[in-house]
Amino acid sequence: MVKKWWKDAVIYQIYPRSFQDTNGDGIGDLQGIINRLDYLKDLGVTAIWLCPFYESPNDDNGYDISNYRDIMKEFGSLADFDELMKEAHNRDLRVVVDLVVNHTSDEHPWFIESKKAKDNPYRDYYIWRKPKNGKEPNNWGSFFTPSAWEFDQETGEYYLHLFSKKQPDLNWENPNVRKEIYDIMNFWIDKGIDGFRVDTCNIYKKPEGLPDSPLAPNRADGYVFDPEFYADNDGMLEIIQEMMKNTTEGKDLMTVGEGVEASPERTLPYVLEENKAYSMFIHFEMTIENFNNQVSNIKRVIKRWVDGVWNKRGWLCQYVGSHDQPRSVSTYGNDGKYRVESAKMIATMVHTLPGTPFIYQGDEIGMTNCPFPSIEAYNDVNSKFMYDEMLKNGFSPEQAIIELNRLSRENSRTPIQWDDSQNAGFTTGKPWLMINPNYKEVNVKAALEDKNSIYYYYKELISLRKNNPIMAYGSYEEIETEDSDVYAYLRSYVGKSWIIILLFSDRPRKVTIPSAININGKKNILCNYGENFGRDFVQAGQNIELSPYEAIVMEL
Ligand code: GLC
Ligand code: CA
Repeated sequence: MVKKWWKDAVIYQIYPRSFQDTNGDGIGDLQGIINRLDYLKDLGVTAIWLCPFYESPNDDNGYDISNYRDIMKEFGSLADFDELMKEAHNRDLRVVVDLVVNHTSDEHPWFIESKKAKDNPYRDYYIWRKPKNGKEPNNWGSFFTPSAWEFDQETGEYYLHLFSKKQPDLNWENPNVRKEIYDIMNFWIDKGIDGFRVDTCNIYKKPEGLPDSPLAPNRADGYVFDPEFYADNDGMLEIIQEMMKNTTEGKDLMTVGEGVEASPERTLPYVLEENKAYSMFIHFEMTIENFNNQVSNIKRVIKRWVDGVWNKRGWLCQYVGSHDQPRSVSTYGNDGKYRVESAKMIATMVHTLPGTPFIYQGDEIGMTNCPFPSIEAYNDVNSKFMYDEMLKNGFSPEQAIIELNRLSRENSRTPIQWDDSQNAGFTTGKPWLMINPNYKEVNVKAALEDKNSIYYYYKELISLRKNNPIMAYGSYEEIETEDSDVYAYLRSYVGKSWIIILLFSDRPRKVTIPSAININGKKNILCNYGENFGRDFVQAGQNIELSPYEAIVMEL
């Protein structure tokens, strides 16, 4: 495979609002990121991806943009952004920015114009339709509201919003819209950014004629939520190709698409190098609903993506945490007794699967889900929507909060716990979202002081990658063991092979590795129970005794 910087990269995702506040307003800011670049450099990551920092009324925390060419007031100014770019590049850290162009904010000047009159020159920047039999133009449900349509009294038409009603979908059929977006991308490219993370990147092209979804109603109010129907419609790839031709082509930039309902079959065309679309693609097949507490689901998903994309020359990205998922250690591991062991085990998996690893802020210190006490403690538009839907479906408020505590993406949005001082060192003011009460124990300062911390284990995993191309480029083969809680696989690259063995359980096991793979006396690369191979587990012939959440990487 062709070498590219982003194939060797380790990418750290920053949610600026929750990263570091510097002026006491309780909201993270660009200066806060600048202040922490040395921390990130020391961790060893090679690139940062910044979640949206553009002007926004924050209905969806920046994923609703009202000005693509300026910085959200609370985060700072364009001068701060330029300083951040310079400081990051001085440290050899690349900067990838979020591109949110399926929709704008309803407070974007384009939409304000569009709404004014049917003959406004911006009317066609968005998707407006007449009522059908006095109702919505079709049965579509939105990600964040029951119906995907909002009625506008003034002009007597509905506009489409696949997310909140403050996030109207742009009309990508309009060449002027496309041109505007390419100009915006070039504005940021000229500022020296190293790539884009393209938000909801496969739903710009709507199904021809906007027909009803054929599915039966699956929303409390009789609407149909059918993301597969909204995604990857005919002509979608061509739009992205046109986009890249006008923006990133010929430049050494990374583009990572984030796609709705992405499957390997549907994703492959976007990531084949010759198609000149995306470098890689973020999918949701490992999320909490799909994981369902079963390692077999992880194995199945990885196999699907290796067979369907990796083995067909498409690059992969690997992640378990993001601002859209609950905390990874709470989902895949044990955030109580085995928090440290299981966070390290999960990290081992992400960093030893093929492709480019993404680390979500705070995962490197094992931050956990947060016990939000009531719906009032939540901020997120999607969590509130989930809550309302649950109540409509007969849940009590208490039950709904128990579910949200487990499932909500807000779990990952609580401020970073930098130390054990008031507000965890995140702010001197009132934090915009509650701080996880475990900050006295789980924080960066404590992690830096403990040589066995999750932080140092991440550092080791990241530094291993620099000398071992097998981690990014190696082939992948699952190893069958009789134990469904054990996940084992082989990576191989130019004459080298590694075996990775992971236990997803708090009960110790003995696992037998098939005799075809001789592990006897093999060299240890890494183990989350200690540096010294063979010290913490007994290896007898082909049998390995695994401790709870143990992770072993051996060279064969
Ligand atoms: C993406 C973002 C998510 C946002 C949504 C709408 O999925 O990651 O946070 O709410 O798009 O822009
Ligand atoms: Ca601030």
